[in-house]
This record gives sequence, structure tokens and C-alpha cells, in this order.
Amino acid sequence: MNMRHPPARQQNYGDDPLAMRETDHYVAEYVQSFVDKWDELIDWRGREQAESEFFIETLRSLGAKKVLDVATGTGFHSVQLLKAGFEVTSVDGSPEMLAKAFNNARKHGYILRTIHADWRWLNRDVHDLYDAVICLGNSFTHLFNENDRRKSLAEYYATLRSHGILILDQRNYDALLDQKIEPSHNYYYCGEDVNVVPEHIDDSLARFRYRFPDQTEFHLNMFPLRKDYIRRLMKEVGFQRVTTYGDFQETYHEREPDFFVHVAEKRYRDQEPQA
Ligand SMILES: C[S@@+](CC[C@H](N)C(=O)[O-])C[C@H]1O[C@@H](n2cnc3c(N)ncnc32)[C@H](O)[C@@H]1O
Repeated sequence: MNMRHPPARQQNYGDDPLAMRETDHYVAEYVQSFVDKWDELIDWRGREQAESEFFIETLRSLGAKKVLDVATGTGFHSVQLLKAGFEVTSVDGSPEMLAKAFNNARKHGYILRTIHADWRWLNRDVHDLYDAVICLGNSFTHLFNENDRRKSLAEYYATLRSHGILILDQRNYDALLDQKIEPSHNYYYCGEDVNVVPEHIDDSLARFRYRFPDQTEFHLNMFPLRKDYIRRLMKEVGFQRVTTYGDFQETYHEREPDFFVHVAEKRYRDQEPQA
């Protein structure tokens, strides 16, 4: 358990919510009532259709079998990958999320292998090597400072086998920062009646409001990652090749996609000596 943040009942951003720009705050953001509503937000069936097996196909095409889902949330991708025959271990830093994911997986007939860990010191709790690490659902943007981002990427890198891949997605914050536009599609958060709005955006904060049909509201404070910046960090920690997709397409206009997916490969392509 993360003892710094005992489970809270309500989100608490203090007197000035726009001043809350701390990595550690994520545990307190996922209060039980928000966790319970998360699946309304993402709508598993709608999301499955929107993603149309992109992640499964990408993992298969790169030969991955053993996957570490580091941002399990309520378990959507862990369960989807288990169904598709992958070996999956599910990590999250929020105990509430992991418990929800475990229960969701049981409903689908799976016992989730869970590890409660923070990415910044992942390898203190994860003692195995994987073909792939996935960090999906705009999760990496919970990290508010560069040191946390570098450390987390280095921890992902360390838990990958020599041919391993990292798949990490993010909102198209460049579009939000540069044009002040609202995302048009809804590829990831597919719940029809849930209203997701970027309430505030500046260079170091994107604050989103999630309004549910019963009028309950929650917020998430995220760091607006620029696409080229995160690609550079990935290369700096040692990934050799980073391919970025826009809304699951290899070719796209920079401003159009709502989401980017980065596929970062650890393997030295041509230089690596044969084993
Ligand atoms: C936006 S949710 C996405 C969940 C899921 N992947 C999805 O797409 O529905 C982000 C998840 O990342 C987890 N998370 C955020 N920062 C973390 C950190 N530093 N270490 C471990 N987990 C973290 C949160 O607890 C939360 O469950």
C-alpha cells in the first residue's frame, strides 16, 4: 500500500486545483467512487471496437507473448490480452484500481496476476522480464516532472527482454496546447453519456473534467506531454526505434489525431550480433 495517500472518499485538489501539479497525487485522484464509474467512461465493448485489435496485432507482429500492463486501471487491456492468449501481469499504483481490475477479470473468467507498484520504482516489485510493457489510456501523463518520466521509462526498459517493446499512448496534447481545440473523436473513452472536457490547459497542466449522467463530476490533473518530447525521452533512455501512430494509423496529419500511440523497440535492429 502507498501509505502516503490513505484511501480518500472524495477528490481533493485543495484551494487552488490548478496548482496541483504533483506526480504523487494520482493515487488520491482515483477515489473509490471514480474507480467505480471508470468503466462507464471507457465502455469496454465500445473501446474494443474502436481499437479493433490494434494492440493485439502490434504485439503479435513483434513476437511478444509475455506482457506487463503497467497502467492496469480497471483491467480492460489486461483482460483483452488474456482472452487473446497472452501471458499478462497487471501493475498499478492505485490499490483501488487493482481491486476493481481483479473483480472485473473474475467476471470474465480470469484470475489476474496483480502487482501493486509505482512505475518510478517498478523493479523493486517486479522481478521478471517481459516481451512487452504496455502503458495505455493516457496514463503516462500522470507524471509531472521530467525526472519521474525518465525514471519510469528506465524502469520499463529494465524489465524488458533484449528484443522487448514498450507501447505507450497519450492524448494529442500538441493540438490542445497549440490550437486550443477540443478533441473531436472519442476513440478511447467510449462511454456515450460521459462528458470529458479539458477545463484548463497550459504548458505544465491539462485539467480534465469527467461528468457522468447522474451529474457527478470528477477531475484529473495531467501533464500535457508533447509528442516529440516523449519520443526523445524514449530514445534517450535507450529505445532504438520509436514508431508513432495517430489514432491507430501510421500516416496522419499532426493536428488531427486525438491520441498518439508510441511503439518503442529496445532491440538493436541491424547491429545486434546473433545469439
Ligand atoms: C487514466 S488511468 C488508465 C487506466 C487504463 N489503462 C485504461 O486505459 O483504462 C491511469 C492509471 O495509471 C495509474 N498510475 C498513474 N500513475 C502511476 C504511477 N506512477 N505508478 C503506477 N501506476 C500509476 C493510475 O493509478 C490509473 O489506474
